[in-house]
Amino acid sequence: MTHMKTLQSHKKTIASTVGLTGKPRYNPVKAEPHTPPYKIHKYFARRPWNVFNQLVNNFSTQGETILDPFCGGGVTVYEGVKQGRKVIGCDLNPLSIFVVKNMVKRVGDLEVLLNAFDLTEEYLKSLYEGFDFFTQGKENIKIEWSEVAFVVECLYCKKEIILSNENKVKNGVYKCCNAKCESNKSAKGGVEPRLCKRIGTKHLYNIGHNSKGKKVVSIFDKTSENQTKKHLEFLRGEIKRKKIKVPQDKIPLNWDRQFEDQLAKKGILNFQDLFTEQNLLINLLLLNFIQSLKEKIGQSEYELLRIAFSNIVKDNNIMSFTNDTWQSGKPTTWSKHAYWIPSQFCEVNIEDVFRKSKQRVISAINFNREFDFVSKEVNKTKDLEKEGNILLWNKSVVDLDLPNNSVDAIITDPPYGSNVQYLELSHFWYPWNRDLYHVEPDFKLEAVSNRKKNFDGAKSMHDYEENLYKVFKKSYDALKPDRHMVLTFNNKNISAWLALLFSIFRAGFTLEKDGIYFQDGVKNYKQTAHTKYEGSPYGDYIYVFKKTSNKLVTKTYTNQESFWTDLNSLFTTHFQTLDNNRDDLIKKMFLDAIPVIESFSKTFLLKNKHELYATLKKDYFDHLYD
Ligand SMILES: C[S@@+](CC[C@H](N)C(=O)[O-])C[C@H]1O[C@@H](n2cnc3c(N)ncnc32)[C@H](O)[C@@H]1O
Ligand SMILES: [Zn+2]
Repeated sequence: MTHMKTLQSHKKTIASTVGLTGKPRYNPVKAEPHTPPYKIHKYFARRPWNVFNQLVNNFSTQGETILDPFCGGGVTVYEGVKQGRKVIGCDLNPLSIFVVKNMVKRVGDLEVLLNAFDLTEEYLKSLYEGFDFFTQGKENIKIEWSEVAFVVECLYCKKEIILSNENKVKNGVYKCCNAKCESNKSAKGGVEPRLCKRIGTKHLYNIGHNSKGKKVVSIFDKTSENQTKKHLEFLRGEIKRKKIKVPQDKIPLNWDRQFEDQLAKKGILNFQDLFTEQNLLINLLLLNFIQSLKEKIGQSEYELLRIAFSNIVKDNNIMSFTNDTWQSGKPTTWSKHAYWIPSQFCEVNIEDVFRKSKQRVISAINFNREFDFVSKEVNKTKDLEKEGNILLWNKSVVDLDLPNNSVDAIITDPPYGSNVQYLELSHFWYPWNRDLYHVEPDFKLEAVSNRKKNFDGAKSMHDYEENLYKVFKKSYDALKPDRHMVLTFNNKNISAWLALLFSIFRAGFTLEKDGIYFQDGVKNYKQTAHTKYEGSPYGDYIYVFKKTSNKLVTKTYTNQESFWTDLNSLFTTHFQTLDNNRDDLIKKMFLDAIPVIESFSKTFLLKNKHELYATLKKDYFDHLYD
């Protein structure tokens, strides 16, 4: 009862807190799904646009300059420009800048673009002509996708085991089709494919809809097999005729995602191995065709075609799969922040996904027109003062020529510790877009930590803090005095949380009074596998920091011991008093813990951090989220 009161009065304080511009600092809203510009291309962990729209509104005024040093999928950039701000967006990731550039792009000639789309679709159609149907009765039904499964050699009897959904006993265990095989009598009730040799794949079904709109599943028979064989021969012939080299880009072995996803063990050595041969060849031919249009159309139209292409490779690779309860049984993909390869997957028809991708680009263009979205990109901060309103920088803000005290607000969403390996995951697109990227991704500077620590170049929480620090220090210097840095963050791992706060306080920021808010996530996005998998709470905390001249450090810690004792007592007090609302609990804990964390991060800097992170790792949050 008593703590309910505390929470209510706490909420009241928040509502009445006013920011620099006279508007409330933040009022949690119902997070809305992405608008069309965000849908032209996938990016990992995009935040809700209307949350950032409000942050832009409440922390800056018309004509002011906003910096987002981790601009990712472009929410701050897009919502900032949409509301008449000048925005500087930085990101190490070439995919990020490629995507954001196209979200804000003004198409030169829509007619030319639509025409180029038509030509591309016609060409794509010609690559399927005669090979993209199966027959049922008298009807020819277009193949929307085929279900395909990996095949392994049984560890016990050496016969083939098809890793189909049908043969699955439970997660990681499949039954051997050989009735006499002793594996079926074993304690596990089957064979573990991870212990077996992978020997190939097998097509199982073709799927389409008949003229009455009914879903038809047809067994992949001899006729289908022959048809696919002929199709492949035709595609190989086209590749040869056009002198296209099938690239082989190795997936690095010393990647966090390699350890987590075991790609090499599954025989996936190159990024190209993430496609069936059919889809790989069609993608290569399609890309080659689009590249041949380059000289005939303008640069902006060309890049929009390329973004439409780039977005389809995420749909037509072997990471897509069906699940009766998801997406009404249609193929889905990239449902985790991982290179997650299902044992039974889909070979998706590329015509369908390209058509949808084209529609997304056109919807974005229409949306931008409707809202009179005016963008003018410049390359130098100087030019931003006069003519332009967007500067996109494909490097760390540290390398940007950005004068001190020149930025009015920093609005950002920093990387989340070890939750998302942005560069490793985005590298999937590298083979498809390399001619458009202007820089090589700089893995070294990326602010992440790795889950696995035992490989060459693995990053610790400490590296995460250091890389964040570099960015926040430069951002701090660039910010005008008494202005704000607002950011969203959430993490189940307390050491990631502290690393972030340490790096911010070390850079010189202080937390605004009552400067923590909780913003719930988008309902529809809550049930995605990765949020469940990572155990992260839904939604985000919003932190409001300030570049303030009168810094108050209330206490100076002389050893780690006393810091640890203080933090401990704070957390244990809250654990006992508030136990039914974890989000408010965490908010409260952090509000109270902030002075402790702030003074610790300033007095201790780097010393003792390794030990601290190691100790903190699992102590507090894990059991909270059980
Ligand atoms: C959480 S994401 C931003 C997402 C974005 N707010 C959105 O809604 O799409 C963090 C971004 O930081 C980038 N990043 C990581 N370390 C960086 C660094 N040192 N400098 C610049 N960008 C970095 C990653 O590539 C990633 O795009
Ligand atoms: Zn067997």
